[in-house]
Amino acid sequence: MSTELELKQYFETCVDRVDTVIDYFLPPASTESRLQEGMRYATLNGGKRFRPVLVYATAEALGADPLKANHAACAVELVHSYSLVHDDLPAMDDDELRRGKPTCHVAFDEATAILVGDALQSLAYEVLATESSNPAHHLDAVCRLNMITTLAEASGTMGMAAGQAIDLASEGLSIDLQQLQNLHSMKTGKLIRASVRLGALSAGCKDPSLLLQLDDFATNIGIAFQVQDDILDVTGDTKIIGKKSGADAALNKATYPSLLGLQGAQEKASELHQKALMALESLDHKAAPLRSLSNYVVTRTY
Ligand code: IPE
Ligand code: IPE
Ligand code: MG
Ligand code: MG
Ligand code: MG
Repeated sequence: MSTELELKQYFETCVDRVDTVIDYFLPPASTESRLQEGMRYATLNGGKRFRPVLVYATAEALGADPLKANHAACAVELVHSYSLVHDDLPAMDDDELRRGKPTCHVAFDEATAILVGDALQSLAYEVLATESSNPAHHLDAVCRLNMITTLAEASGTMGMAAGQAIDLASEGLSIDLQQLQNLHSMKTGKLIRASVRLGALSAGCKDPSLLLQLDDFATNIGIAFQVQDDILDVTGDTKIIGKKSGADAALNKATYPSLLGLQGAQEKASELHQKALMALESLDHKAAPLRSLSNYVVTRTY
């Protein structure tokens, strides 16, 4: 997978696949239930689906049928979408545009947005616990339990939620590079690491050294993903990124460009990408999509 077009096609296949699974598990659209309507609004709305693509690409890199990773890919996107709904609330980043549309609390109301986040999070774990209806994609109960633990650890007090708390507490403060890396690794990196681990678990991988290499890869691209998000907040066009650019500076957020300057942040992203590639050195051609995804993380424009 060396061309941009090939990666684009790969994304399209994965997005179609995971959107079908998300649609299947979401409660039906109901004009009577704002909660159900809001859950659909916040998920089936044109997200890039980077984390599901990563789940599938990891399963494939290990030689597994990517369809075995359907539930994992869906679950991680549900947690991610919930995190965005809450991230946009007035009590957090107070944003009005997400994925090119009004944020959930603007389109509905704050209480509904809080509940949409809550319900998406619950649904994610239900999806992981559920057996596939296709026997060929069956994952045993221990594997499903490991997946639940992996996602819970990545999104809770040791992961995304803790990172979000540090992000908010750091507004207006000057933190050092180590603290910033820790912040990015928690608020964004952990869920990206979990995506790779979920892909490996779907593939039945139990090789500790391989799991460590994949963890190393994911740790680097996880931080790089947020560095690039920070860069796009400075250089991106609101119409293209689908959220208001300049929002970080307006809130005095601790970001890579604010600490290292734009060029310093770009250099950091490319250093992380190189480290990620090195971590995959022992993997064969089946890891081509994973390698392309690392490049995508630091070159994406939205
Ligand atoms: C945005 O994530 C928030 C971060 C963790 C950086 P994405 O850039 O993956 O957003 P969507 O899912 O494509 O909207
Ligand atoms: C959000 O980081 C990370 C999450 C856990 C949701 P940002 O606040 O930078 O994400 P955007 O820029 O609003 O998408
Ligand atoms: Mg935020
Ligand atoms: Mg935000
Ligand atoms: Mg951002």
